[in-house]
Amino acid sequence: MNANDQTAQGEPATKAARPRIPLDEIRAQVEQCRRCPLCDGRTNTVFGVGNPNARVLIVGEAPGKNEDLQGEPFVGAAGKYLNELLAIAGLVREDVFIANVLKCRPPSNRDPRPEEIELCAPYLREQTRTINPEYIVTLGNFATKFILKTDVGITRLRGTLQQAGRFRVFPIFHPAAALYDGKKREALENDFVTLGELLGTRKA
Ligand code: URA
Repeated sequence: MNANDQTAQGEPATKAARPRIPLDEIRAQVEQCRRCPLCDGRTNTVFGVGNPNARVLIVGEAPGKNEDLQGEPFVGAAGKYLNELLAIAGLVREDVFIANVLKCRPPSNRDPRPEEIELCAPYLREQTRTINPEYIVTLGNFATKFILKTDVGITRLRGTLQQAGRFRVFPIFHPAAALYDGKKREALENDFVTLGELLGTRKA
């Protein structure tokens, strides 16, 4: 069995690997998506942005208000903080690819619902297959539980290297949860030091 035939969720390998779908094609599918009622409230879908050949795929939860308006992930306060965190690891946004579990904003930023996650999941799965990163960095509980198929919470998993199929997974706190919590900030910043060390990108 070739490890490359596994998905991030560790699904069984198929005999012949399916061809990877170009990101533009996946984006076009997302833009037209009407699989769940979130499509009725959206201004824009938020497909994701960054280097299509990134070594690191960063996975957040769902677009917020600013992301919905601009069609880009992590453009609000949490996004500004994410840029600072990336710098700790010796990275800039253009080095990584940033996407979310959900491509449309839940009303009033409520938590994603299981059925929404299930319906939206194929898009992230295809993005992951196409980008084929070395590392998936999951931000917060929703992304971590989705990628690792676990019920273990982020507080226990953060900063520990995990494996999902052929991908190394590095769960960390969501930057929005850490913005106003000094302890989480410290943990998050330490985890980005570790990420930079794992990647060999951290400047001394
Ligand atoms: N929080 C997320 O999880 N994703 C975004 O794109 C913005 C905020």
